[in-house]
Amino acid sequence: MSFLTAVGREAPFRSVLCAALKVAYKLTPSAFRWAAYFDAIPYVHYAVGLARAAEFAALFGIRSFSAIELGVAGGNGLMWLSKHARSVSTQTGMTIRVVGFDNATGLPPIADWRDAPWVYSPGEYPCDVDALTKRLGRSELVLGDIAETLPEWLAQGHAPVGFLAVDVDYYSSAIAGLKALGSAAPQALLPICESYFDDILCRGMPRFAGEFAAIAEFNKSNSHRQFDRDDSLGEWRPFSERLWLKRMYSFYCLDHPLMQTHRQRQPRGLDLVDAS
Ligand SMILES: C[S@@+](CC[C@H](N)C(=O)[O-])C[C@H]1O[C@@H](n2cnc3c(N)ncnc32)[C@H](O)[C@@H]1O
Repeated sequence: MSFLTAVGREAPFRSVLCAALKVAYKLTPSAFRWAAYFDAIPYVHYAVGLARAAEFAALFGIRSFSAIELGVAGGNGLMWLSKHARSVSTQTGMTIRVVGFDNATGLPPIADWRDAPWVYSPGEYPCDVDALTKRLGRSELVLGDIAETLPEWLAQGHAPVGFLAVDVDYYSSAIAGLKALGSAAPQALLPICESYFDDILCRGMPRFAGEFAAIAEFNKSNSHRQFDRDDSLGEWRPFSERLWLKRMYSFYCLDHPLMQTHRQRQPRGLDLVDAS
């Protein structure tokens, strides 16, 4: 890292650079990389998640992946996912397919207290399908209950899922989505997928309910596929204390054939340092 970058990450320079990069990004999408680094773009978690997914894909020699959002509502997240996917594609040469999943009718009936009825109500965040369809561009929308649509879609042979955004609020909806990922064929997934959970670590949402409880339940019941918080993502970032970083997880598919063998590469060594 250059001296200037190291200084730029410190307060108060980081706030000044963040403000400048917000303006730069509005003027030109070529400011994407630095704007994402300084948290100067909307849905920065999607931008950083996509970039991480592209790194993982490249690590395994894969050139295309799908980025999916569970819970679309009006489509704000899906629009930004799509826009950021174009930037990450330009930057990395990856082909990224963007797909959103929603039932269009808003939050389903509450299953039990793990859906946090003290926070959410059935019918909230409905989706205006006609309005959303007009905004979709090259991204796609799959309508229906994700308990049914996601397993079906995963079985259809699309580019493997590399980035997953979970924004369905409830435990019951999140666990349905995670179960679909748990039972998908390995080739439906990147060996390591990056993921973001929007509704964890929120006010009034304990770890034993909602999406957090779904992650815990999934990890407990699956020995070969595991979510692990991606704590290294924040290292060297100017705003490394931001809450969204704690909502980023890597999903390890240990039963993926590409996870069974080491990659062919030059054996690594460590440079000796002068300790005298
Ligand atoms: C908070 S909104 C999503 C907001 C959106 N991601 C954004 O960034 O603007 C939650 C959405 O999840 C959807 N949802 C919740 N459970 C679902 C399920 N089981 N199947 C399909 N959609 C579901 C609801 O319809 C609602 O539109």
